[in-house]
Amino acid sequence: MKTVVLANQKGGVGKSAIACLLAHWLAAQGYRVLAIDVDHQGNMTKPLTKSGKAFVAPMSAHQVFTDAASASNGIAEEHPFVLIPSSHELKALEQQREQHNQFARNLRVFLHHADQRFDFCIIDTNPNPDIRVVASLVSADFVLSPIQLNQEALDGIQGLLLDERVGVERIREKLNPKLRFLGILPTMVEPTPYQKENLRQLVASSQIRSKMVAMVDAPTGGADYAFIPKRTAIAKAQGAGQFLAEIKGDTAARDSWREIQPVIARVAQLMGAA
Ligand SMILES: Nc1ncnc2c1ncn2[C@@H]1O[C@H](COP(=O)(O)OP(=O)(O)OP(=O)(O)O)[C@@H](O)[C@H]1O
Ligand SMILES: [Mg+2]
Repeated sequence: MKTVVLANQKGGVGKSAIACLLAHWLAAQGYRVLAIDVDHQGNMTKPLTKSGKAFVAPMSAHQVFTDAASASNGIAEEHPFVLIPSSHELKALEQQREQHNQFARNLRVFLHHADQRFDFCIIDTNPNPDIRVVASLVSADFVLSPIQLNQEALDGIQGLLLDERVGVERIREKLNPKLRFLGILPTMVEPTPYQKENLRQLVASSQIRSKMVAMVDAPTGGADYAFIPKRTAIAKAQGAGQFLAEIKGDTAARDSWREIQPVIARVAQLMGAA
């Protein structure tokens, strides 16, 4: 099982939307998918539950941190697509400082238990960089960081990599050498001159370019870097709990899916999907 964490301390950048799209896509490709929502806001739990596609495990995601044995029982039934839903208890984990190492160990034990049952695990995280995010990064294979193209988010790129607690480089150095940064994925990109300029500037910086999700193995120009456009159909599908690819008779949904399908497929491919 390959585990990917959607992470960015900035809120509302499209982490949950991409987590859902990726989970649906991988499940539709025939992979066995485990989705874990460690954000108490439940923005992956709501749409995946509504979709009816995922079996909702009879437990809450806080148990993967507090009680690995009972969490493992929660995925005992054979289902190809399982959601471990969010709950309010998740919020309290950060205050239990003396338990933090144990929380991280429990998640690792749980993921180890799930390893043979699933092909991919997708962890959607909360925006505040707390123990849930640290523990997820410590046990993951990959991290993907959606960002929005505004100045504040661009200023935060260094933090994604170098933040003392949740920076990917720091986690890799200190706690999880196998963690691989899939990259920065600009989301909700609008066709405004300002956003186009921001995207151009990102790609122009060789340091940042090397951290972006590229659509091909040897990118040569701006067009080779992935981004997700801002589309009402994406937000609508997320709100309604539908998989964008499967919405029938809606031209906007079809067009939006056509735009983003190559990006979702590329991310899946970078994680080893065929
Ligand atoms: N590409 C997109 N185009 C239009 N709307 C989008 C797009 N991606 C996400 N949205 C919408 O933007 C809002 C925020 O997205 P989302 O919940 O995925 O962000 P998030 O990073 O998970 O937020 P949080 O940090 O609070 O967890 C949601 O209403 C979602 O449906
Ligand atoms: Mg979210």
